[in-house]
Amino acid sequence: MKAELEAIQAAALEALKDVETADALESLRIEYFGRRGKLTDVMKGMGQLSKEERPVIGKLANEVRASLTDAFEATKNALESEHQEQKLKAEAIDITLPGRKPAYGKAHPVMQTLERIEAIFTQMGFQVVTGPEVETEHYNFDALNTPPDHPARDLHDTFYLTDGHLLRTHNSPVQIRVMESQKPPVRIIVPGKAYRVDYDVSHTPMFHQVEGLLVDRHVTFSELKGVLVSFARQLFGDQTQMRFRPHFFPFTEPSAEMDITCTVCRGEGCRSCGHTGWIEILGAGAVDPEVFRAGNYDPEEVTGFAFGMGVERIANLQFRIPDIRTFYENDLRFLKQF
Ligand code: PHE
Repeated sequence: MKAELEAIQAAALEALKDVETADALESLRIEYFGRRGKLTDVMKGMGQLSKEERPVIGKLANEVRASLTDAFEATKNALESEHQEQKLKAEAIDITLPGRKPAYGKAHPVMQTLERIEAIFTQMGFQVVTGPEVETEHYNFDALNTPPDHPARDLHDTFYLTDGHLLRTHNSPVQIRVMESQKPPVRIIVPGKAYRVDYDVSHTPMFHQVEGLLVDRHVTFSELKGVLVSFARQLFGDQTQMRFRPHFFPFTEPSAEMDITCTVCRGEGCRSCGHTGWIEILGAGAVDPEVFRAGNYDPEEVTGFAFGMGVERIANLQFRIPDIRTFYENDLRFLKQF
């Protein structure tokens, strides 16, 4: 019987080596441990053994049983972890594969120009402030010394809303709002949208302006010129020349427009500049005393200057596109070029 037990143990261990699946392991278990299993049979036969043999063989049988149980358990664990490993392998994500690149957007050409303009003025110490696009006639016109019969109020230029509201036709109303809310000295620029009833190769109904306002004691017109010349040099390059022409704005006195030498022909004269060699880029002037009064500043105490420019127009001097309306058609083939 001892030999039989040892043979069973050896055979079982040998068979375990070939087991590859949980099912095969289970049938093997039944083959040895089942109700009619090989080991079970031997155990059952113990009754016939002599009194002397029984404890010896019994002990051996228990040892064999324990060691086989361990061996089965070990095989079971090994099969399970192998199964687990294969499952993980099958479900694995290859993180070394190159991913799909997100499509990066970039700033609209008009915004690129606006950011450059802002950068130049903020570097000179101007603060960026904003104001509402829906304005009242008071801020857009009256407070800016623009009386009701002024041609700028013509229905053809202004988008009127209800209740005396309108879409601001320029960014100058923010001058008044700033004076009302802070004491001088003031050194600000106002980037943002303005609206006019206008639509042709050089006008869109919505466009961007940068307004500027500087107020302090003893501010002079030559300081206005200095700031604007420095600005234009930084934006258009050192070789660019500027000139100031007298002009009229209701809210500045005296007023001027600033021209730069044409960026296409460099001053020779071409179609872009109407053969004059010059291109107008902004309006400016010394703040009118009436405007100071409307903003509750004392014109006896302070002086100042203001300027305003159209961003699309300046962008177009850089990018030279034949029709500025294409800026707002949202055609990616066009926008991607900038
Ligand atoms: N607001 C004027 C315009 O839109 C520009 C301007 C601003 C002129 C400030 C003088 C001073 O044309």
